[in-house]
Amino acid sequence: MTEQQKVHPVSDDFAANAWVDKEKYQSMYQQSVDDPEGFWAEQAKRVDWIKAPTKIKNTTFDSHNVDIRWFEDGTLNASVSCLDRHLETRGDQTAIIWEGDDPKDAKHVTYRELHAKTCQLANALKELGIGKGDVVTLYMPMIPEAAVAMLACARIGAVHSVVFGGFSPDALAQRINGADSKLVITADESVRGGKQVPLKDNVDAALTRKGTEVCKNVLVVKRTGGEIDWNDSRDVWYHDLVDKQATECPAEEMNAEDPLFILYTSGSTGAPKGLKHTTGGYLVYASLTHQYIFDYQDGEVYWCTADVGWVTGHSYIVYGPLANGATTLMFEGVPSYPSHGRMGEIVDKHNVAILYTAPTAIRALMAHGDAVMDSSKRDSLRLLGSVGEPINPEAWEWFYRVIGNSKCPIVDTWWQTETGGILISPLPGAMDLKPGSATLPFFGVMPALVDSEGNELKGVADGNLVILDSWPGQARSIWGDHDRFVQTYFSTYKGMYFTGDGCRRDEDGYYWITGRVDDVLNVSGHRMGTAEIESSLVAHEAVAEAAVVGFPHDIKGQGIYIYVTLTDGVEPSDELKKELTQWVRKDIGPIASPDVIQWAPGLPKTRSGKIMRRILRKIAANETDGLGDTSTLADPSVVDDLIENRAIK
Ligand code: WT7
Repeated sequence: MTEQQKVHPVSDDFAANAWVDKEKYQSMYQQSVDDPEGFWAEQAKRVDWIKAPTKIKNTTFDSHNVDIRWFEDGTLNASVSCLDRHLETRGDQTAIIWEGDDPKDAKHVTYRELHAKTCQLANALKELGIGKGDVVTLYMPMIPEAAVAMLACARIGAVHSVVFGGFSPDALAQRINGADSKLVITADESVRGGKQVPLKDNVDAALTRKGTEVCKNVLVVKRTGGEIDWNDSRDVWYHDLVDKQATECPAEEMNAEDPLFILYTSGSTGAPKGLKHTTGGYLVYASLTHQYIFDYQDGEVYWCTADVGWVTGHSYIVYGPLANGATTLMFEGVPSYPSHGRMGEIVDKHNVAILYTAPTAIRALMAHGDAVMDSSKRDSLRLLGSVGEPINPEAWEWFYRVIGNSKCPIVDTWWQTETGGILISPLPGAMDLKPGSATLPFFGVMPALVDSEGNELKGVADGNLVILDSWPGQARSIWGDHDRFVQTYFSTYKGMYFTGDGCRRDEDGYYWITGRVDDVLNVSGHRMGTAEIESSLVAHEAVAEAAVVGFPHDIKGQGIYIYVTLTDGVEPSDELKKELTQWVRKDIGPIASPDVIQWAPGLPKTRSGKIMRRILRKIAANETDGLGDTSTLADPSVVDDLIENRAIK
């Protein structure tokens, strides 16, 4: 039996107590696609509306006129659904368990405290002149203030744009500028793996860049007390301004389609795109998926190991869990510090029932052998989740057997920044699991596979993954550039949302995501555009041309492989490789660090000058026997040189 045919049936025990079993999935799924209006009208009741919506779905994927509206006449405030409505029933329950980088640091924040802190910051934001529709950039450590900042923005109708703390000053500047952001909230430093990251210094540097003049203030949380520069006319200490504010703040009445947040992500071309997510549909979808896919039961401790800088942190650390009145764990550090047992130790320390993490983290632990889990028992675990990239069956089995003690189902959740929430995943009481497969669509989601011409492939098939109709959590646009939104997602295959992923459907109708089919890399679950890295490289004076491809990497899933053609007269050297590596890290951030640089006297191009990445990918992956047709190349001899001088032997 091949790994791919292995099936883990739903356990009877689990199904008996789960929110959804096989039958219920079938009937609810059927209803959700037969009668989306009726289905979502009912589901919308799970959040608190000021004015309940009567118009449910008004969406078109027609590429002349992509227009997506859910619950469009409803009004609400997302922070009320996440906070106020829990005060009476669970005000003293822990909302956020914070686990610091240092294992000695932890704290519990109740719903009542979170509500008060959110209101205080909301009042402080108003004092800084921030109001409805203004964009606030968050560049923060994984501390409760990050969630407070998101919710405080939501409370006054400001739009948050969270930028991952690992991005460089230039990347941060680009996002501040792109969103016309008037305020940045940050901390003096963040702490990860015992090391300080100079967040405030990075903000200072970002704000010297052109186009960031729009940013008037920087609000700074004192996290470490480390030394920072201070600009009196611009910088404000968080504790100075926030602690004195009233702990009540009226919530702004927002339309369901008013923006809640922008989140930048990389595409195959151009600069990162700021996806626009709106309020009502997003919140309903984040909360519904969180409850059903993680089978969240009242009182359980739920831990998603993502950073709030990514969409996973938005939907499944903050909005989904808090809307559901859950206890959500937020971890400041890294899984390898102080030792590789940390993840298991945190599970034991806080009684975590549900652990949602990434294949790259699992593979990194697995590389140290089963003994890395000896420092913990993990008896509290009931369910495991995976996200970010395809999980290889070997890592799946290790996650199941070693971390989950062979008793926890795994939900392999497929989704994207653009989708707002999970689209394809097991419901753990309803689906038999196959390691490596994200299994079946969530309610209301209509996946399909198409060939390169856009013809739908039925039954068992391998093709490009598209979604045929809208779901409430979907991004509505790209901030400031709706044409690009239409062009990127709705023009490849007319009338369909194109995911950019390849996918296979098996004889049980299960979906197996095979990875990106465009020029987007997935490095340790972080998404990166090859074009972005290339444009960074060619800005260096030694580089005439650069081509970036992914190659299989044991831990990261994909590594970054770079072919560089040097400017005439520049000599290749190891020092230059180091310099170019530093250049990209500084320009984009450490997550874009090249793994391999190969000097390329020439790049394989078609006669019309297009770089043939297919060939470069094969060389990087050392699959040089199957290069396919190279006869259309302008100069086939460059390929021989590249193979001969492959940088990994
Ligand atoms: C891309 C989206 C959505 C949360 C994190 C990433 C890949 C994500 C899976 C999965 C196979 C996956 C896809 C997708 N991906 N989850 N369970 N199985 N592939 O969000 O940065 O927007 O990246 O990540 O290729 O298109 P993102």
